Formats: sequence, structure tokens, C-alpha cells
Amino acid sequence: MKLKDSKTYENLARAYAAECQARTRYEFVEYGLRYNGFEALAQIVDTIAYQEFNHARMLYTQIQGADQKQIDNIDISAGFPFKEKWDMEKNLKLLAEDEFLEAEAYKEFVAVAEKEGFSDIATLFKQIGEVEIRHQKLFLNLYEQFKNGTLYKKKNEEAWICPNCGYIEFGKEAWEKCPLCEAEQGVCQVVVPEELRCW
Ligand SMILES: [Fe+2]
Ligand SMILES: [Fe+2]
Repeated sequence: MKLKDSKTYENLARAYAAECQARTRYEFVEYGLRYNGFEALAQIVDTIAYQEFNHARMLYTQIQGADQKQIDNIDISAGFPFKEKWDMEKNLKLLAEDEFLEAEAYKEFVAVAEKEGFSDIATLFKQIGEVEIRHQKLFLNLYEQFKNGTLYKKKNEEAWICPNCGYIEFGKEAWEKCPLCEAEQGVCQVVVPEELRCW
């Protein structure tokens, strides 16, 4: 089967559209966080947005490989999420939900690609799907920290790092203003469990 005649071809386009939208959604959320002074959270969201861009880039590359000629248009029919509004706490939760739905879609794309004999593309779908699950868990963790007021307040001692000047203080609570450069608390790096870090 030629890629251009396959369901996998359409799935590549669907996945590409979803990744582009995910990236923009992240930029919306990042914008809101930064506007409200949560610089460190915004930085994480920005990093994830860039990861979505690279997912889109690899999917796009596969689509381009399907035909030597110019590809003018690919028709896709799919639903995409438009849930996020301008509430930081809710948005973090909604991002996690979107990631989960993306990961579910990738599972289906993997199965179809394997059935149609496109093992390289199946591997790409699988690898991206695994990242989306990590994204999901990360956003759930950040949502809970945000909601519970534990972003900068912990049970155990942590290292509170100022990325602006490199100052580090150890304690259960983060500094409110960086003692060295006077950066606001929102700049202070948040604590993310090692297994959820993808940067
Ligand atoms: Fe992605
Ligand atoms: Fe993601």
C-alpha cells in the first residue's frame, strides 16, 4: 500500500493538526501565566510548547515523504479541543486532559500504521504518544501544586533556585523575593518530580 492511499496518511495529517493546536494552546496558557507573574511555570509550559512543535515537525516530514510532487491539500475530519479559557488553575488541568486524549488517539494511530505496514511511522506515533503521557502527568502534578498552594511551600526541604541570578536557598518555603537579585517568587524554579521532567 502506498502511504498516500492509506489511513495512516490521514492520521499523520490529523496528528499534525493536533500538535499545531496543542502548541498554540500552550502559548495561550504560557501567556496567561507570565502575565500573572508565574514566570517559572510559564517557562515550563513554553518548553512543552516547543516539544509539540517538534512533534509537528516530524509528522510533517513524514507527510512530505509520501509524494515527490507538491502536496496541496489533505482532507481530515476530526474533533479538536477548545476548552481552555483564561483561568490558570483550570487550564493546567485541561492541558492534562488534552494530553491524555492525544495519547489515546496515538494508540489508535499506532495500531492502524502497524496494520498497514508502516512500521517507521508506527514507531514515531508510539514515541510521541509516550511523551504525551509524560506531559499529562506533568500537568496534573503542576495543577495539584497550583491548586493546593504547594508550588513554593513543601513538607520537605528543597533547593529554591533563582534562574535569573543563580542564587540557591534550601528550606521548606521558597523566598518571596530573591535575596540576591530581588526577582519575585514566581521566577523561582518550581519542584518537579524527576520522573516527570522532560527537559
Ligand atoms: Fe505532542
Ligand atoms: Fe504534549
